[in-house]
Amino acid sequence: MKVLVINGPNLNLLGLREPALYGSQNFAALQELIRESARELGIEVELFQSNHEGAIVDAIQGAYNRMDAILINPAAYTHTSVAILDALKAVALPTVEVHLTDISTREAFRQFSYVSLYAHRTICGLGFEGYRQGLQFLKENYDK
Ligand code: DQA
Repeated sequence: MKVLVINGPNLNLLGLREPALYGSQNFAALQELIRESARELGIEVELFQSNHEGAIVDAIQGAYNRMDAILINPAAYTHTSVAILDALKAVALPTVEVHLTDISTREAFRQFSYVSLYAHRTICGLGFEGYRQGLQFLKENYDK
């Protein structure tokens, strides 16, 4: 099973960025955890990070006919991007939405997610562990 893992804006600054919220481990550590979890689960992962909405839309479109599922932390675009929602609906792949923090208990503007309108599952507030659980959910439910 092939899964495209997408991380949105500012997640490349993990470690530096608001460590009280997002933790002290950096983005390289997150990527390593994703690769290791995927290896354990027998998943082939492709990792993509961008700070640009259109690049994320392109990556989602590029998954069509090539990948079996998508795991995405859209970061700030979660709360603003109809374009990312539309791209996910267009390619229609099983999709897990992950957030490091629990967006349901943060500022009001973070409590709505466009991506949740499509995602098959949303995992919030588990830090890096949410990515592992998201991959596991995709493997258990959508491996052909
Ligand atoms: C985030 C939550 C978003 O509100 C925020 O803009 C992020 C990260 C999370 O992983 O908790 O950049 O998606």
